[in-house]
Amino acid sequence: MTQIFLTGATGYIGGEVLHALQHAHPDYEVAALIRDKEKASKVLGAFPKVRVVLADLDNVDIIEEESRKANIVIHAASNKHIASVKAIANGLAGRQNAYYIQVTGASVLAGPEVDNNSYGEPSDQIIDDLDNAADLRDIIRAYKDRRVVDNYILDLGSSGPKTAIIFPPIIFGIGKGPVKQRSVQVPSLARATLLQRVSLYLGRGLSRWGIVHVSELADLFVKLVENAVNATPSPIWNENGLFFAEKGFESFKDVASVIAKEAHSLGYIDSPDSVKSMNLEESNVVIPNGSVFLGTNGQGRASRAKKLLGWQPDGESFQSAVRETIIAEAAQL
Ligand SMILES: NC(=O)c1ccc[n+]([C@@H]2O[C@H](COP(=O)([O-])OP(=O)(O)OC[C@H]3O[C@@H](n4cnc5c(N)ncnc54)[C@H](OP(=O)(O)O)[C@@H]3O)[C@@H](O)[C@H]2O)c1
Repeated sequence: MTQIFLTGATGYIGGEVLHALQHAHPDYEVAALIRDKEKASKVLGAFPKVRVVLADLDNVDIIEEESRKANIVIHAASNKHIASVKAIANGLAGRQNAYYIQVTGASVLAGPEVDNNSYGEPSDQIIDDLDNAADLRDIIRAYKDRRVVDNYILDLGSSGPKTAIIFPPIIFGIGKGPVKQRSVQVPSLARATLLQRVSLYLGRGLSRWGIVHVSELADLFVKLVENAVNATPSPIWNENGLFFAEKGFESFKDVASVIAKEAHSLGYIDSPDSVKSMNLEESNVVIPNGSVFLGTNGQGRASRAKKLLGWQPDGESFQSAVRETIIAEAAQL
């Protein structure tokens, strides 16, 4: 029996992953770590077969014990909480037939801009997770202090569980998880557009990130889980288990243009061309850490999932999802 231990089920990514897994494989047993009783009830309302583990990420003994019971652990609650990462690794230690999938983020590629305090500028660096896997490992290792979780998982080597790290870029679209369905960059920019009646980008807006729909991202998790369940031999784990997830790259100025066009066609702003540059301080008001999330380059090409897992991110378009997000944000004002 496939037993999955999932964190972050009440969140945007983890909720979508739970939804996708339960629909694709209702026979898989899922234990979900949830810290809040009311949210746990919502999860159970949507997915009654889930076993709730009522605990916080700091409850490392519980996390280790649940990981020991599982064949597959998906850590979608945090990309920074190293104590929980260590607890998962301890629970899976020494088991070659156990799997650990961790979500982190495409800001792994943002190091140079952060080092140089340079935001909104273009970069010609695109890292392909298949062809440039060694470069990606070097980048992770070059930032030991900022990429603590990525480094810890890479350093586990291949004597224990099989590991995969997913580095999502700009995730767009309204989620189907049972509690939180809102992403970060696009909703925050849409909200700022509605409040200021102009769509914003940082600096020259020329830096680019990958984009992926949240349901496409969840499909990638499902594909990895299926590969684990079927124990299909392929170079997708441990030092090869580094996955970008994208269906193209967008500059933040282009993102602002799409938001402006859609906000205008919905009647929220006066012109489809209402876009404006903002400075660093203003970007950090739009989103905490806006300089990184709106001003760096996160151009990681997702070849490994497409070529080796048959992952096809061909779902809802960016434009259509932006429109839905603007409508959702307007309803919250
Ligand atoms: N969304 C994006 O665009 C994006 C892109 C790349 C990477 N990421 C990273 O991926 C991770 C998940 O992102 P997300 O957007 O899904 O975040 P989210 O919507 O805020 O969800 C976070 C989830 O983790 C849970 N959680 C957080 N701290 C916890 C703790 N101490 N104990 C137990 N549960 C805890 C939350 O539970 P509660 O409901 O109780 O708060 C929630 O279920 C984050 O580290 C984020 O930085 C996100």
